[in-house]
Amino acid sequence: MHQQIDHPCVQHKLAIIRDAETGHKRFRELATEITEFLCYEALKNVKTKKVEVRTPLATAICNKIDTDLVVVPILRAGVGMLDGILELVPTARVGFVGLFRDEGTKQPVSYYQRFPPQTKGGTCIIIDPMIATGGSTIAAIDLLKQAGAGQIVVICIVTCHEGLRLVEAAHPDVAVYTASIDAELDDNKYIVPGLGDAGDRLFGTSH
Ligand code: PRP
Ligand code: URA
Repeated sequence: MHQQIDHPCVQHKLAIIRDAETGHKRFRELATEITEFLCYEALKNVKTKKVEVRTPLATAICNKIDTDLVVVPILRAGVGMLDGILELVPTARVGFVGLFRDEGTKQPVSYYQRFPPQTKGGTCIIIDPMIATGGSTIAAIDLLKQAGAGQIVVICIVTCHEGLRLVEAAHPDVAVYTASIDAELDDNKYIVPGLGDAGDRLFGTSH
């Protein structure tokens, strides 16, 4: 299952974050803002429980989230989405997966992994601005499943048909939420039109 969030507020911000003239400070702010909207949508089916709350006037029957939430940024670019998601679910725990794409083979190389104990049986939200070939996302899902994750959802800012197809073929039980499904990958396996190298643009390491 995947869903592109077409809300005008998301698409407006996406237009600005894609722009090559947008500098790293604004890029970071937009990544946070877009993530909040995507996360809002991605958590719409999260498990809740009924609770009684004493208002100043009476007792209200309310709903509270009833699962451990574990946010897992894929290092490094996923860190750029962390503030946005924690704004929405401030009590979530945070795990990390370190993966980079080998420039030659384009395959993900794993270099770090640390998950909180609540990963086992919990609802895990992988965040990474880009799903290009899908290799990094598939590797991160593999690691979380090995750690016993309950439900897994993925939030990215931009993906493409090719990458999405591979992720869904490898992990049909994982839902992907995105602001855009772009047309294709170029010869370097960059998403086109995409937004360029997300890590470099977030952290100002390109120029
Ligand atoms: C980028 C991006 C994803 C991955 C997507 O990370 O943030 O993790 O590439 O590509 P894939 O779908 O083809 O695997 P990158 O390898 O550039 O590392 P970085 O986050 O450290 O910049
Ligand atoms: N990684 C990025 O940062 N951007 C792409 O388009 C593909 C991989």
